[in-house]
Amino acid sequence: MAQGPGRDMREDLLSRIDTTVPHSARRYDYLLGGKNNFAADRASAALLEEAIPSMRLGVQENRAFLRRTVDYMARAGVRQFLDIGSGLPTSPNVHEVAQAVDPSCRVVYVDNDPIVLVHARALLTSSPEGETAYLDADFRRPEGILTDSQFTDTIDLTRPLGLIVVGVLQYFLDEDDPYDLVSRLVAPLVPGSHITLTNGTYDFHPVEQAPMVDEIMRSSGLPMRARSKDEFTRFFDGLELIEPGVSVISKWRDENEPTPRPDPADVNSYGAIGVKKG
Ligand SMILES: C[S@@+](CC[C@H](N)C(=O)[O-])C[C@H]1O[C@@H](n2cnc3c(N)ncnc32)[C@H](O)[C@@H]1O
Repeated sequence: MAQGPGRDMREDLLSRIDTTVPHSARRYDYLLGGKNNFAADRASAALLEEAIPSMRLGVQENRAFLRRTVDYMARAGVRQFLDIGSGLPTSPNVHEVAQAVDPSCRVVYVDNDPIVLVHARALLTSSPEGETAYLDADFRRPEGILTDSQFTDTIDLTRPLGLIVVGVLQYFLDEDDPYDLVSRLVAPLVPGSHITLTNGTYDFHPVEQAPMVDEIMRSSGLPMRARSKDEFTRFFDGLELIEPGVSVISKWRDENEPTPRPDPADVNSYGAIGVKKG
């Protein structure tokens, strides 16, 4: 099994992390009911929730979508996964969902946040038959991920991969060209590979609310590029969408979720799975 940071490195990382200022990954953890957060993160989350009362519901629906799509991909025969922007460990993590379908599933987690690296050990709890690895790397450098020995020791690119970029793309502005970043990750994948993406949207908001939400996100340190349905669908150019295609994440194959299902205006994120064909 691949290792998380060693003790010395962990202590060095911890000493460099400032817990008195809010941090996006810890705030997300708090909104999900996790324990890896501090007073500053909770205060920042409270401010966000005051402005956007459905914030907590939105992040919970994001995790539920992730769980359903990984389960779908594993049942469709995918046995290896690359989860980019994995965030702080939150059970069930990708490998737990995939290995519940087949314990031999292999997962590489990638994040570029030192706080996630500190907690990465919790992601390295693979079943004995499978494997998990954590890579401290950047989505902005796709080739760096695909050629890293942690990745190549775990993933066999001659077999289909489940690529997951969930809860991440909205933090990439147009000048970052996230379409190019996704297509550089998809290019080397073999047919049968599945690509799961999400992106926040304002399609369900009254037009005049968008600048306000933009400003809240910017002032909370996370400028966001919401995308329309058409803009989001472009990420899947050249791929075949799995039914029901692009939909609000809470409605994607949600038949077994508790009802009533949330209003799309309280979730505000699109998601889909595309399959690479031969
Ligand atoms: C909102 S969290 C999503 C976590 C998880 N994927 C989920 O959906 O529950 C976004 C994560 O993306 C990570 N991230 C942001 N920019 C990144 C980059 N350039 N490279 C790798 N990870 C990045 C952040 O550190 C954060 O952990």
